[in-house]
Amino acid sequence: MSKLIDTSLQVSAIKNGTVVDHIPTDKLFKVIEILGLTSCDKQLTFGMNLDSKLYGKKAIIKISDRFFKDDELNKISLIAPYAKINIIRNYEVVEKKVLMLPESITGIAKCANPMCVTNHQRITPKFTVFTDKDSSVMLKCHYCEKVTNLKSAL
Ligand code: CTP
Ligand code: ZN
Repeated sequence: MSKLIDTSLQVSAIKNGTVVDHIPTDKLFKVIEILGLTSCDKQLTFGMNLDSKLYGKKAIIKISDRFFKDDELNKISLIAPYAKINIIRNYEVVEKKVLMLPESITGIAKCANPMCVTNHQRITPKFTVFTDKDSSVMLKCHYCEKVTNLKSAL
C-alpha cells in the first residue's frame, strides 16, 4: 500500500513565530547571526539551497515563539534586501512585513579606518546608514566618521 506524502513544504510549518523567507542562500548564516540566533532557546529550523523562483536558490529560517522588533528585523535588509518576513499565529500567516533600511547599526560591520578606536579597543562599532546616489548602502562610523561601502565592511 502506498502512503500519501505531502512534499509541498521544504521546511516544516510552524505553529507560532517568525519565518524569514527568500534569503539569498549564501547569506543564511549571516542572517542567523544578525538576529542573534546563534544562541537561542527557541525551536529554530532552517533550510538552504532550496528552490526559489526569485533567486534560483534561497534560504529560509523559521523561529518558533519569537516575534522580533521591527528594528531588529530591519537589520536583515542590509544583507538580504528582498527577504520576506511572515508572522505566524496558529499556523496562519497573519502578517507580512516589508523590510526597511535601518537608520543605524551596532556591531554588524567593521570600520574600514585602521586608525579607528573600534579597531584598537573593545568598542562595538556603530554606524549611521544611508544610500549614496547609486543606491549603494553606505555606513558612516559613529567614532571616526569614516564612510565605507557596506559591502566592504561586512
Ligand atoms: N509558513 C510556515 N508555517 C506556517 C505558515 C507558513 O512556516 N504555519 C511559511 C511558508 O513555508 C512560507 C512562508 O511562511 O515559507 C510564507 O507563507 P505563505 O504566505 O503561505 O507563502 P507564499 O504565498 O509562498 O508567500 P510569499 O510568496 O510571500 O513567499
Ligand atoms: Zn571608525
